[in-house]
Amino acid sequence: MSKIDIVLGTFFGDEGKGKVIDYLATKADVTVRCSGGNNAGHTIQVNGKKYAFHLAPSGILTPGTLAVIGNGVVIDPRVLIEELEVLKNDGYSIDNLRISDKASVIMPYHIEMDKMLEAQRAPGDKIGTTARGIGPCYCDKYERCAIRMEDLIGDTFEEKVRKNVKNKNIIFKANGWDEVDAEAIIAEYQPLGAYLKKYVCDTINLLHDCLEKDMSMLCEGAQATLLDIDFGSYPFVTSSSPSVGGVCTGTGLSAHDIGEVYGVLKAYSSRVGEGPYITEQNNEIGDTIRELGHEYGATTKRPRRCGWLDLVALNYAVKVNGITGLAINHLDTIGKLPRFKLCVAYDYNGERTTNYSTNAKFQETCKPIYEEFEGDFEIGDAKSFEQLPEKAKVYLNRIEELTGVPVKFIGTGAGREELIVR
Ligand code: IMP
Repeated sequence: MSKIDIVLGTFFGDEGKGKVIDYLATKADVTVRCSGGNNAGHTIQVNGKKYAFHLAPSGILTPGTLAVIGNGVVIDPRVLIEELEVLKNDGYSIDNLRISDKASVIMPYHIEMDKMLEAQRAPGDKIGTTARGIGPCYCDKYERCAIRMEDLIGDTFEEKVRKNVKNKNIIFKANGWDEVDAEAIIAEYQPLGAYLKKYVCDTINLLHDCLEKDMSMLCEGAQATLLDIDFGSYPFVTSSSPSVGGVCTGTGLSAHDIGEVYGVLKAYSSRVGEGPYITEQNNEIGDTIRELGHEYGATTKRPRRCGWLDLVALNYAVKVNGITGLAINHLDTIGKLPRFKLCVAYDYNGERTTNYSTNAKFQETCKPIYEEFEGDFEIGDAKSFEQLPEKAKVYLNRIEELTGVPVKFIGTGAGREELIVR
């Protein structure tokens, strides 16, 4: 029986998971999304053309590879269909798509609720959500009133929409926000359900059957550990579980079914949206990293906050996820700096600690303790770890030493193929 390999973000997202996922997806028989929704973004380049996926699993481009959207995902059907139509127009068959009947559906009132709640938050309290309705959709899931894919394609849809809209409109009205129209939503969404119906199935048994048939499986994580609803810097987090637990709850696979867990990071760090960030360089250094690493949101173009790599936080991600291999991107970018830093511990009220906590007081109080490294190195056309410049190896070796986890993938440039596999 095979096991599922997992690719996860270790910090605040945007670590470049897509690069590792692309590499592994071409070898997988099944690729699975298990959490989040179209707050995630991932660009794939095939035959010179770029495809921006927010919901479609990467395997969708490979005929013969199953592309599964698991039960833990929240699906905006308008966005998913838009992605599928682009693929169909380019001649791709999307018959390899499978969507869990239990996945929750993002409805227009979730998007409105997301916008309304964010607009009402005071400046210091804003989360900086992607305004895609993610949080309110997960709220409905846990409130047990979500519309699932099985409703969208079935005969329970109309009644559930009317009930939900009635309740949401009470909230919208009380807040002076525009109300939504149940009948208009039903009229728009029923055809979307009809479009997606043939892909909807029981993905839980499907995935277990795939393991039994020894098919190789890859779970492509979205967001990242420090954005996790439980393990992240709450409340500045997303509303799902992007850490390893979300793979089990978002697919129906068990802990025993997990194989390799690859944690993706950059040679520095970044964050979008609000929230604490201990190694942030809100200064010229951060600006330089941003420019060198092109750290601007792929869809929103929001400038990302940038800083040094934080091994205290990374070790927390290693613990929480059981990471078995690291994937470090932007090694070329950090090498463009004359010198750079790595946070190896925190000073917490005069005491040195290597234990991370998302507690707000802890985050405010901690001062990073750094080791410094020499930069000014060029990766050139190094195709293996051994061929890397000595200064780059020193940095990677130190990361391995302090995490106890081997570096398995090294991103050496912006191109998809600029990846050293070890
Ligand atoms: P939401 O997921 O739209 O509710 O946004 C909550 C927080 O998570 C915000 O700070 C977002 O910027 C952040 N976030 C959500 N998805 C991603 C992602 O894929 N990469 C980086 N940050 C994200």
